[in-house]
Amino acid sequence: MKIFLSLRTLSFPCCLLFAASNLAYESHASVTSQEFQYFCDEHSITIDIKGNYTTNSTYHTNLNTLMSNILNNKEIDYSFYNVSYGEYPNRVYAIGLCRGDIKPEQCRTCLNQSRANLTAVCPNRKVPIGWYNDELCMLRYSNRSIFDRMDNGPAYYKKSDKNTTDLNEFNTKLNDLLNGLKRKASSGDSRLKYTVGNFSLPNFDDAYGLVQFTPDLSGEDCDNCIAQSIERISKDCCKDSMGDRVVRPSCFMRFETSYQFYRPTAYTPPSPPASPPPTTTSVTNPSSGSIYYP
Ligand SMILES: *[C@@H]1O[C@H](CO)[C@@H](O)[C@H](O)[C@H]1NC(C)=O
Ligand SMILES: *[C@@H]1O[C@H](CO)[C@@H](O)[C@H](O)[C@H]1NC(C)=O
Ligand SMILES: *[C@@H]1O[C@H](CO)[C@@H](O)[C@H](O)[C@H]1NC(C)=O
Ligand SMILES: *[C@@H]1O[C@H](CO)[C@@H](O)[C@H](O)[C@H]1NC(C)=O
Ligand SMILES: *[C@@H]1O[C@H](CO)[C@@H](O)[C@H](O)[C@H]1NC(C)=O
Ligand SMILES: *[C@@H]1O[C@H](CO)[C@@H](O)[C@H](O)[C@H]1NC(C)=O
Ligand SMILES: *[C@@H]1O[C@H](CO)[C@@H](O)[C@H](O)[C@H]1NC(C)=O
Ligand SMILES: *[C@@H]1O[C@H](CO)[C@@H](O)[C@H](O)[C@H]1NC(C)=O
Repeated sequence: MKIFLSLRTLSFPCCLLFAASNLAYESHASVTSQEFQYFCDEHSITIDIKGNYTTNSTYHTNLNTLMSNILNNKEIDYSFYNVSYGEYPNRVYAIGLCRGDIKPEQCRTCLNQSRANLTAVCPNRKVPIGWYNDELCMLRYSNRSIFDRMDNGPAYYKKSDKNTTDLNEFNTKLNDLLNGLKRKASSGDSRLKYTVGNFSLPNFDDAYGLVQFTPDLSGEDCDNCIAQSIERISKDCCKDSMGDRVVRPSCFMRFETSYQFYRPTAYTPPSPPASPPPTTTSVTNPSSGSIYYP
Protein backbone atom coordinates (compact mmCIF):
# COMPACT_ATOMS: atom_id res chain seq x y z
CA MET A 1 0.00 0.00 0.00
CA LYS A 2 1.21 3.40 -0.82
CA ILE A 3 -0.03 6.51 0.83
CA PHE A 4 0.57 10.06 -0.18
CA LEU A 5 0.54 13.04 2.02
CA SER A 6 -0.84 16.12 0.49
CA LEU A 7 0.56 19.38 1.72
CA ARG A 8 -2.28 21.37 0.28
CA THR A 9 -3.84 23.70 2.73
CA LEU A 10 -7.56 23.35 2.61
CA SER A 11 -9.84 26.23 2.06
CA PHE A 12 -12.71 25.71 4.47
CA PRO A 13 -12.03 28.01 7.42
CA CYS A 14 -13.52 25.57 9.87
CA CYS A 15 -11.50 22.70 8.55
CA LEU A 16 -7.99 23.89 8.11
CA LEU A 17 -5.46 21.16 8.41
CA PHE A 18 -2.12 22.51 9.29
CA ALA A 19 0.23 20.59 7.11
CA ALA A 20 3.44 22.37 7.80
CA SER A 21 6.78 22.12 6.15
CA ASN A 22 8.20 20.57 9.29
CA LEU A 23 5.94 17.58 8.89
CA ALA A 24 8.06 14.59 8.13
CA TYR A 25 6.81 11.96 5.82
CA GLU A 26 8.10 8.55 5.04
CA SER A 27 6.30 5.75 3.34
CA HIS A 28 7.33 2.14 3.32
CA ALA A 29 5.38 -0.93 2.40
CA SER A 30 7.00 -3.42 4.71
CA VAL A 31 5.79 -4.35 8.18
CA THR A 32 8.99 -3.13 9.76
CA SER A 33 8.44 0.34 8.45
CA GLN A 34 8.56 3.17 10.92
CA GLU A 35 6.74 6.25 10.14
CA PHE A 36 6.80 9.37 12.20
CA GLN A 37 4.63 12.43 11.66
CA TYR A 38 5.22 15.48 13.75
CA PHE A 39 4.82 19.18 14.35
CA CYS A 40 7.47 20.93 16.42
CA ASP A 41 5.23 23.79 17.51
CA GLU A 42 1.64 23.92 18.51
CA HIS A 43 -0.57 25.68 16.08
CA SER A 44 -4.21 25.57 15.29
CA ILE A 45 -6.95 27.98 14.46
CA THR A 46 -6.97 29.43 17.94
CA ILE A 47 -3.48 28.79 19.23
CA ASP A 48 0.00 29.40 17.99
CA ILE A 49 2.64 28.57 20.58
CA LYS A 50 6.30 28.39 19.86
CA GLY A 51 9.02 28.05 22.40
CA ASN A 52 12.24 26.31 23.28
CA TYR A 53 13.56 25.22 26.63
CA THR A 54 17.22 25.31 27.55
CA THR A 55 19.15 22.08 27.84
CA ASN A 56 19.42 20.99 31.47
CA SER A 57 16.96 23.65 32.60
CA THR A 58 14.26 22.88 35.15
CA TYR A 59 11.78 22.49 32.31
CA HIS A 60 14.06 19.93 30.71
CA THR A 61 14.52 17.86 33.84
CA ASN A 62 10.78 18.05 34.55
CA LEU A 63 10.11 16.75 31.06
CA ASN A 64 12.55 13.88 31.57
CA THR A 65 10.92 12.98 34.86
CA LEU A 66 7.51 13.13 33.28
CA MET A 67 8.51 10.86 30.43
CA SER A 68 10.04 8.27 32.72
CA ASN A 69 6.85 8.41 34.80
CA ILE A 70 4.91 7.47 31.69
CA LEU A 71 7.34 4.84 30.46
CA ASN A 72 7.65 3.16 33.84
CA ASN A 73 3.98 3.29 34.70
CA LYS A 74 2.73 -0.28 34.77
CA GLU A 75 -0.54 0.58 36.48
CA ILE A 76 -2.21 2.39 33.62
CA ASP A 77 -3.44 -0.47 31.46
CA TYR A 78 -5.64 1.44 29.05
CA SER A 79 -2.98 3.14 26.94
CA PHE A 80 -3.88 6.70 27.82
CA TYR A 81 -1.36 8.71 29.80
CA ASN A 82 -2.23 12.22 30.89
CA VAL A 83 0.38 13.40 33.31
CA SER A 84 2.07 16.54 34.49
CA TYR A 85 5.09 17.35 36.58
CA GLY A 86 6.75 20.38 38.17
CA GLU A 87 5.71 23.86 39.21
CA TYR A 88 4.67 26.80 37.09
CA PRO A 89 6.29 28.17 34.98
CA ASN A 90 8.25 24.95 34.49
CA ARG A 91 5.34 22.59 34.82
CA VAL A 92 5.19 20.13 31.92
CA TYR A 93 2.03 18.40 30.73
CA ALA A 94 2.00 15.34 28.51
CA ILE A 95 -0.49 13.12 26.78
CA GLY A 96 0.40 9.72 25.42
CA LEU A 97 -2.29 7.78 23.62
CA CYS A 98 -2.09 4.48 21.78
CA ARG A 99 -4.49 3.14 19.22
CA GLY A 100 -7.26 1.16 20.88
CA ASP A 101 -5.97 -2.22 19.73
CA ILE A 102 -2.49 -1.79 21.18
CA LYS A 103 -1.54 -3.48 24.42
CA PRO A 104 0.12 -1.59 27.28
CA GLU A 105 3.66 -2.92 26.83
CA GLN A 106 3.62 -2.17 23.14
CA CYS A 107 2.13 1.19 23.92
CA ARG A 108 5.00 2.15 26.16
CA THR A 109 7.51 0.96 23.58
CA CYS A 110 5.75 3.04 20.98
CA LEU A 111 5.74 6.11 23.22
CA ASN A 112 9.41 5.64 24.03
CA GLN A 113 10.24 5.57 20.35
CA SER A 114 8.03 8.59 19.74
CA ARG A 115 9.88 10.41 22.41
CA ALA A 116 13.23 9.54 20.85
CA ASN A 117 11.93 10.72 17.50
CA LEU A 118 10.45 13.92 18.89
CA THR A 119 13.66 14.74 20.68
CA ALA A 120 15.62 14.09 17.51
CA VAL A 121 13.46 16.13 15.15
CA CYS A 122 12.24 18.85 17.53
CA PRO A 123 15.15 19.32 19.92
CA ASN A 124 14.36 21.54 22.92
CA ARG A 125 10.86 22.37 21.73
CA LYS A 126 8.30 23.05 24.41
CA VAL A 127 5.12 22.02 22.61
CA PRO A 128 5.75 19.32 20.01
CA ILE A 129 3.45 16.50 18.94
CA GLY A 130 4.23 13.31 17.04
CA TRP A 131 2.48 10.21 15.73
CA TYR A 132 4.59 7.10 15.49
CA ASN A 133 4.41 4.08 13.21
CA ASP A 134 1.23 4.65 11.28
CA GLU A 135 -0.45 6.42 14.19
CA LEU A 136 -0.11 3.49 16.57
CA CYS A 137 0.61 6.09 19.19
CA MET A 138 0.61 9.81 19.73
CA LEU A 139 2.83 11.74 22.11
CA ARG A 140 2.57 15.42 22.88
CA TYR A 141 3.78 17.66 25.64
CA SER A 142 3.25 21.25 26.51
CA ASN A 143 3.89 23.94 29.08
CA ARG A 144 0.12 24.47 29.43
CA SER A 145 -2.56 22.07 30.49
CA ILE A 146 -3.72 19.90 27.63
CA PHE A 147 -6.21 17.70 29.51
CA ASP A 148 -9.94 17.85 29.10
CA ARG A 149 -9.68 20.05 26.08
CA MET A 150 -10.36 19.49 22.43
CA ASP A 151 -7.51 20.36 20.09
CA ASN A 152 -8.25 19.82 16.44
CA GLY A 153 -4.91 21.11 15.26
CA PRO A 154 -2.21 20.80 14.24
CA ALA A 155 -3.56 18.10 11.99
CA TYR A 156 -2.72 16.25 8.83
CA TYR A 157 -4.40 13.97 6.42
CA LYS A 158 -3.30 11.28 4.05
CA LYS A 159 -5.15 9.74 1.22
CA SER A 160 -4.62 6.50 -0.49
CA ASP A 161 -3.61 6.51 -4.11
CA LYS A 162 -6.47 4.19 -4.87
CA ASN A 163 -9.22 6.03 -6.75
CA THR A 164 -12.48 5.12 -8.18
CA THR A 165 -15.30 6.88 -9.87
CA ASP A 166 -19.01 6.59 -9.26
CA LEU A 167 -18.55 6.71 -5.56
CA ASN A 168 -21.99 7.86 -4.55
CA GLU A 169 -23.14 4.60 -3.11
CA PHE A 170 -19.79 3.96 -1.51
CA ASN A 171 -19.67 7.41 0.04
CA THR A 172 -23.13 7.08 1.48
CA LYS A 173 -22.18 3.81 3.14
CA LEU A 174 -18.90 5.24 4.29
CA ASN A 175 -20.55 8.26 5.78
CA ASP A 176 -22.98 6.00 7.65
CA LEU A 177 -20.12 3.86 8.90
CA LEU A 178 -18.03 6.77 10.13
CA ASN A 179 -20.94 8.52 11.78
CA GLY A 180 -21.86 5.27 13.50
CA LEU A 181 -18.28 4.83 14.69
CA LYS A 182 -18.27 8.41 15.90
CA ARG A 183 -21.35 7.83 18.04
CA LYS A 184 -20.06 4.59 19.43
CA ALA A 185 -16.53 5.77 20.13
CA SER A 186 -17.64 9.01 21.77
CA SER A 187 -19.81 7.08 24.19
CA GLY A 188 -16.79 5.19 25.48
CA ASP A 189 -15.53 5.69 29.01
CA SER A 190 -12.73 7.83 30.43
CA ARG A 191 -10.18 5.16 29.58
CA LEU A 192 -11.01 4.30 26.00
CA LYS A 193 -12.97 5.97 23.24
CA TYR A 194 -12.28 3.76 20.25
CA THR A 195 -14.37 1.87 17.71
CA VAL A 196 -13.82 0.03 14.46
CA GLY A 197 -16.24 -1.26 11.89
CA ASN A 198 -16.60 -2.39 8.32
CA PHE A 199 -19.02 -2.76 5.45
CA SER A 200 -19.26 -4.60 2.16
CA LEU A 201 -20.71 -3.45 -1.13
CA PRO A 202 -20.94 -5.33 -4.40
CA ASN A 203 -18.26 -4.21 -6.84
CA PHE A 204 -16.19 -2.65 -4.09
CA ASP A 205 -13.53 -3.99 -1.80
CA ASP A 206 -14.61 -4.33 1.82
CA ALA A 207 -14.18 -1.10 3.75
CA TYR A 208 -12.72 -0.81 7.26
CA GLY A 209 -13.02 2.23 9.46
CA LEU A 210 -11.62 3.38 12.79
CA VAL A 211 -12.46 6.32 15.04
CA GLN A 212 -10.66 7.17 18.27
CA PHE A 213 -10.74 10.12 20.66
CA THR A 214 -8.53 11.01 23.57
CA PRO A 215 -10.73 9.58 26.32
CA ASP A 216 -10.68 12.80 28.36
CA LEU A 217 -12.96 14.48 25.81
CA SER A 218 -16.63 15.01 26.46
CA GLY A 219 -19.10 13.57 23.98
CA GLU A 220 -19.76 17.03 22.60
CA ASP A 221 -16.08 17.74 22.08
CA CYS A 222 -15.71 14.37 20.36
CA ASP A 223 -18.44 15.30 17.93
CA ASN A 224 -16.96 18.69 17.23
CA CYS A 225 -13.52 17.24 16.62
CA ILE A 226 -14.50 14.43 14.31
CA ALA A 227 -17.32 16.11 12.44
CA GLN A 228 -14.77 18.19 10.61
CA SER A 229 -12.81 15.07 9.74
CA ILE A 230 -15.79 13.14 8.43
CA GLU A 231 -16.93 16.08 6.35
CA ARG A 232 -13.64 16.13 4.58
CA ILE A 233 -13.96 12.61 3.27
CA SER A 234 -16.26 13.29 0.39
CA LYS A 235 -14.94 16.79 -0.18
CA ASP A 236 -11.78 18.37 -1.41
CA CYS A 237 -9.06 16.55 0.47
CA CYS A 238 -10.13 13.01 -0.07
CA LYS A 239 -12.67 12.96 -2.80
CA ASP A 240 -12.73 9.71 -4.75
CA SER A 241 -10.05 8.20 -2.61
CA MET A 242 -10.56 4.67 -1.32
CA GLY A 243 -8.57 5.16 1.86
CA ASP A 244 -8.11 8.24 4.00
CA ARG A 245 -7.09 9.35 7.40
CA VAL A 246 -7.47 12.63 9.20
CA VAL A 247 -5.26 12.92 12.26
CA ARG A 248 -5.74 15.54 14.98
CA PRO A 249 -4.43 15.80 18.54
CA SER A 250 -7.85 14.96 20.01
CA CYS A 251 -9.36 12.68 17.39
CA PHE A 252 -8.25 10.19 14.78
CA MET A 253 -10.21 8.80 11.90
CA ARG A 254 -9.11 6.37 9.21
CA PHE A 255 -10.64 4.09 6.67
CA GLU A 256 -9.10 1.72 4.17
CA THR A 257 -10.50 -0.60 1.58
CA SER A 258 -9.44 -4.16 0.91
CA TYR A 259 -7.41 -4.61 4.06
CA GLN A 260 -8.16 -4.51 7.74
CA PHE A 261 -5.52 -2.26 9.22
CA TYR A 262 -6.48 -2.80 12.87
CA ARG A 263 -6.67 -5.80 15.12
CA PRO A 264 -10.14 -7.30 15.11
CA THR A 265 -10.69 -6.65 18.80
CA ALA A 266 -9.88 -3.63 20.86
CA TYR A 267 -7.45 -4.08 23.66
CA THR A 268 -9.75 -4.14 26.67
CA PRO A 269 -8.17 -3.19 29.94
CA PRO A 270 -8.53 -6.08 32.38
CA SER A 271 -9.86 -4.00 35.27
CA PRO A 272 -12.68 -1.47 35.54
CA PRO A 273 -11.68 2.10 36.50
CA ALA A 274 -12.46 1.74 40.18
CA SER A 275 -10.67 -1.55 40.73
CA PRO A 276 -7.08 -1.77 41.88
CA PRO A 277 -4.63 -2.49 39.08
CA PRO A 278 -4.02 -6.20 38.45
CA THR A 279 -0.76 -7.60 39.66
CA THR A 280 -0.25 -9.61 36.51
CA THR A 281 -1.42 -9.13 32.98
CA SER A 282 -1.98 -11.58 30.21
CA VAL A 283 0.10 -9.61 27.78
CA THR A 284 2.98 -11.60 26.42
CA ASN A 285 6.22 -10.64 24.80
CA PRO A 286 6.87 -7.56 26.88
CA SER A 287 10.53 -7.33 26.06
CA SER A 288 10.07 -7.34 22.34
CA GLY A 289 10.37 -3.97 20.72
CA SER A 290 8.12 -4.97 17.88
CA ILE A 291 4.83 -3.28 17.35
CA TYR A 292 1.98 -5.10 15.80
CA TYR A 293 1.18 -3.92 12.34
CA PRO A 294 -1.29 -5.84 10.22
C1 LIG B 1 4.63 28.47 27.30
O1 LIG B 1 5.78 28.84 26.61
C2 LIG B 1 5.57 29.89 25.67
C3 LIG B 1 6.85 30.07 24.88
O2 LIG B 1 7.96 30.15 25.71
C4 LIG B 1 5.13 31.15 26.42
O3 LIG B 1 4.89 32.17 25.49
C5 LIG B 1 3.88 30.84 27.21
O4 LIG B 1 3.51 31.97 27.98
C6 LIG B 1 4.09 29.65 28.11
N1 LIG B 1 2.83 29.28 28.70
C7 LIG B 1 2.71 28.98 29.99
C8 LIG B 1 1.35 28.60 30.46
O5 LIG B 1 3.67 29.00 30.72
C1 LIG C 1 13.53 27.10 18.70
O1 LIG C 1 14.69 26.48 18.22
C2 LIG C 1 14.67 26.25 16.83
C3 LIG C 1 15.90 25.44 16.46
O2 LIG C 1 17.03 25.96 17.09
C4 LIG C 1 14.59 27.58 16.10
O3 LIG C 1 14.53 27.36 14.71
C5 LIG C 1 13.31 28.29 16.54
O4 LIG C 1 13.23 29.57 15.94
C6 LIG C 1 13.29 28.44 18.04
N1 LIG C 1 12.00 28.97 18.42
C7 LIG C 1 11.88 30.05 19.18
C8 LIG C 1 10.49 30.53 19.46
O5 LIG C 1 12.84 30.65 19.63
C1 LIG D 1 23.60 18.76 30.61
O1 LIG D 1 23.85 17.90 31.68
C2 LIG D 1 24.58 16.73 31.32
C3 LIG D 1 24.65 15.80 32.51
O2 LIG D 1 24.77 16.52 33.71
C4 LIG D 1 25.96 17.16 30.81
O3 LIG D 1 26.70 16.02 30.42
C5 LIG D 1 25.79 18.10 29.63
O4 LIG D 1 27.05 18.59 29.20
C6 LIG D 1 24.89 19.26 29.98
N1 LIG D 1 24.62 20.01 28.77
C7 LIG D 1 24.57 21.35 28.73
C8 LIG D 1 24.32 21.97 27.41
O5 LIG D 1 24.74 22.00 29.73
C1 LIG E 1 13.45 3.72 25.91
O1 LIG E 1 14.32 3.54 24.83
C2 LIG E 1 15.70 3.64 25.18
C3 LIG E 1 16.50 3.50 23.92
O2 LIG E 1 16.14 4.48 23.00
C4 LIG E 1 16.05 2.54 26.18
O3 LIG E 1 17.39 2.68 26.58
C5 LIG E 1 15.14 2.67 27.39
O4 LIG E 1 15.37 1.59 28.26
C6 LIG E 1 13.69 2.67 26.98
N1 LIG E 1 12.89 2.94 28.14
C7 LIG E 1 11.84 2.20 28.47
C8 LIG E 1 11.17 2.54 29.75
O5 LIG E 1 11.45 1.28 27.78
C1 LIG F 1 12.38 7.23 14.99
O1 LIG F 1 12.75 6.22 15.88
C2 LIG F 1 13.03 4.99 15.26
C3 LIG F 1 13.26 3.95 16.34
O2 LIG F 1 13.93 4.47 17.44
C4 LIG F 1 14.24 5.16 14.36
O3 LIG F 1 14.50 3.94 13.70
C5 LIG F 1 13.91 6.24 13.34
O4 LIG F 1 15.04 6.49 12.56
C6 LIG F 1 13.50 7.50 14.04
N1 LIG F 1 13.05 8.46 13.04
C7 LIG F 1 13.30 9.75 13.15
C8 LIG F 1 12.71 10.63 12.08
O5 LIG F 1 13.97 10.21 14.04
C1 LIG G 1 -5.87 9.18 -8.10
O1 LIG G 1 -6.23 10.55 -8.26
C2 LIG G 1 -5.15 11.44 -8.02
C3 LIG G 1 -5.70 12.87 -8.04
O2 LIG G 1 -6.70 12.99 -9.00
C4 LIG G 1 -4.05 11.19 -9.04
O3 LIG G 1 -2.96 12.06 -8.79
C5 LIG G 1 -3.59 9.74 -8.90
O4 LIG G 1 -2.62 9.46 -9.89
C6 LIG G 1 -4.76 8.80 -9.06
N1 LIG G 1 -4.32 7.44 -8.75
C7 LIG G 1 -4.52 6.41 -9.57
C8 LIG G 1 -4.00 5.07 -9.10
O5 LIG G 1 -5.11 6.52 -10.62
C1 LIG H 1 -6.25 11.42 33.43
O1 LIG H 1 -7.34 10.79 32.81
C2 LIG H 1 -8.10 9.99 33.68
C3 LIG H 1 -9.12 9.28 32.84
O2 LIG H 1 -9.68 10.14 31.89
C4 LIG H 1 -8.71 10.86 34.76
O3 LIG H 1 -9.45 10.09 35.64
C5 LIG H 1 -7.61 11.59 35.50
O4 LIG H 1 -8.15 12.50 36.40
C6 LIG H 1 -6.72 12.34 34.54
N1 LIG H 1 -5.57 12.86 35.23
C7 LIG H 1 -5.23 14.12 35.14
C8 LIG H 1 -3.98 14.48 35.85
O5 LIG H 1 -5.89 14.93 34.52
C1 LIG I 1 -16.85 -6.94 9.81
O1 LIG I 1 -16.89 -6.85 11.24
C2 LIG I 1 -17.57 -7.92 11.85
C3 LIG I 1 -17.59 -7.64 13.33
O2 LIG I 1 -18.34 -6.50 13.58
C4 LIG I 1 -16.87 -9.24 11.55
O3 LIG I 1 -17.60 -10.29 12.10
C5 LIG I 1 -16.76 -9.41 10.05
O4 LIG I 1 -15.97 -10.53 9.79
C6 LIG I 1 -16.12 -8.20 9.41
N1 LIG I 1 -16.18 -8.32 7.97
C7 LIG I 1 -15.11 -8.32 7.21
C8 LIG I 1 -15.34 -8.40 5.75
O5 LIG I 1 -13.99 -8.21 7.67
